[in-house]
Amino acid sequence: MIDTASAYKNEEQVGKGLGTNEKEDVVGSLKKSLERLNMSYVDLYLIHNPISFTPDHSKYLVIDYLDTWKQMEEAWKLGLAKSIGISNFNISQMERLLEHCEVKPAVLQVEVNLNFAQPRLVQFCQQHSITVMAYSPFGSLFETGPPPQASDPTLKALAQKYEKTVAQIVLRYLVQLGVAPIPKSVNKPRIEQNIDIFDFSLSPEEMQTLSLFNINYRKVWPSFWQDHPYYPFEHKDVPDQNPFKGSSGKNPTSD
Ligand SMILES: NC(=O)c1ccc[n+]([C@@H]2O[C@H](COP(=O)([O-])OP(=O)(O)OC[C@H]3O[C@@H](n4cnc5c(N)ncnc54)[C@H](OP(=O)(O)O)[C@@H]3O)[C@@H](O)[C@H]2O)c1
Repeated sequence: MIDTASAYKNEEQVGKGLGTNEKEDVVGSLKKSLERLNMSYVDLYLIHNPISFTPDHSKYLVIDYLDTWKQMEEAWKLGLAKSIGISNFNISQMERLLEHCEVKPAVLQVEVNLNFAQPRLVQFCQQHSITVMAYSPFGSLFETGPPPQASDPTLKALAQKYEKTVAQIVLRYLVQLGVAPIPKSVNKPRIEQNIDIFDFSLSPEEMQTLSLFNINYRKVWPSFWQDHPYYPFEHKDVPDQNPFKGSSGKNPTSD
């Protein structure tokens, strides 16, 4: 029970508090997205993270992702999304979801690239017929980070052999691993290049050579949320600062 009275002047705060309860609002927020997209349905709708957030991401909320999933199923039944899936879930969270869901997730969107192959997670999904969608597929290829960079001799030699770019070699590698990479580019020729990877194949030996770049290095690692009960990744001894909290560096809270 929430006891309010106009004399208490507490209704505005309670209203704000109730407004942050997003679990009942999956269908509502998908409808708002559809309105903004000017579409009547989407092909795929994902839970972005097992951690729930306020709309501005400044605070997290403790909402069971099973409750959120029920609402996702509702959106699917209403035909607002042709398929529904999840993102950034770990294996035990997926096991729990699979045990309780009515509609199985079609897709898991997670980081997969040369440095971060996630073989156990990929195998788990393949065993359960869940498509793995690989985000940040280039890892640190085009930025500072662990090797390989785009200038790597092994990658350059393969690019030369197949008359492709290094980016195309990496995307082809991911496709042959059985995952669906989603490269991002704002550059038209690169967007065209990134889809032009279905006219050649890497050999098993070349696949093996590229697999040696896996050093289990996670690029997208929001450790600033690691005290949340549904945080899906490894913990860090000292978590990174939360970029959504400005310069304070304070962890978000569930209040
Ligand atoms: N679910 C999640 O939590 C999550 C987390 C992270 C990312 N994502 C999604 O994953 C997708 C991609 O991830 P991302 O942007 O992190 O990483 P990414 O696609 O691996 O890398 C993007 C970078 O690669 C460059 N690039 C793209 N194609 C290239 C090419 N052919 N040659 C050279 N450079 C190329 C882009 O530059 P230009 O644009 O200048 O070409 C951009 O700097 C996005 O749709 C994003 O929304 C999801």
